[in-house]
Amino acid sequence: MRTLVTILCAMRPEADPIIGALGLEPHEPAWDPHLPMRCWRHPSQPVSLVINGADRRTGVDLIGTTPATLATHAIVQHMRPATILVAGAAGGHSGRTAIGRVHLVDRAFHHDRRIPLPGFEAYGMGPEPMHGTPDLASAFGVGIATISTGNSLDTLPGEMDFFERHGVTLKDMETASIAWTAAHSGTKVVALRSVTDFFDQPTPEHQFLANFDTAVTNLAASVARGLPALLDSCGSHARA
Ligand code: ADE
Repeated sequence: MRTLVTILCAMRPEADPIIGALGLEPHEPAWDPHLPMRCWRHPSQPVSLVINGADRRTGVDLIGTTPATLATHAIVQHMRPATILVAGAAGGHSGRTAIGRVHLVDRAFHHDRRIPLPGFEAYGMGPEPMHGTPDLASAFGVGIATISTGNSLDTLPGEMDFFERHGVTLKDMETASIAWTAAHSGTKVVALRSVTDFFDQPTPEHQFLANFDTAVTNLAASVARGLPALLDSCGSHARA
């Protein structure tokens, strides 16, 4: 069965509650088995889930933009879904969101690509467009927010200024790179992010660890709630 929606998670513990909620089963990936990404699929619906996998050297989950780009390219090439549904944790702005709250993403900036050369500034910072409509937000039971992607858990003072300038509520380590990669094939990208920590407060790493279970439990509930509507929208486009 052709996959219509591929859910993409960076970390295995982000994926586990979704795998449980949807009843997904392990599946042999279509790509070179030496690559780190791992795959599950639904026994009867056109839904699959991919995780970035584990680092060969250290064994940790492959968070960050480089593995996200690799996974997205493999998904687009080998699974050809209509939509990639990004699902994971994010830092949040303490004045604009709450711990454990899930958001649908409308735009994704790159906050650590500072390139003050003629013409390169707009390429560097984005934003990448995302598929985040009010209809989808209500299907998932969440609000809409803007995200920015970089490769660090902490936040530099200049990055805080960037977030204020562009109305950024969420901060993560994959979404903008996934959107950029998928855009080459016209694959739609929908992103749901659940807040583990406040990026404008000290030691986000402690908050991340303390709040992770709550955040990914809420995330899985939102994915399960909105997936039928997302599948309907992909199915109607595929038939059109
Ligand atoms: N994912 C969860 N919390 C994050 C943070 N503070 N920065 C980047 N990615 C995150």
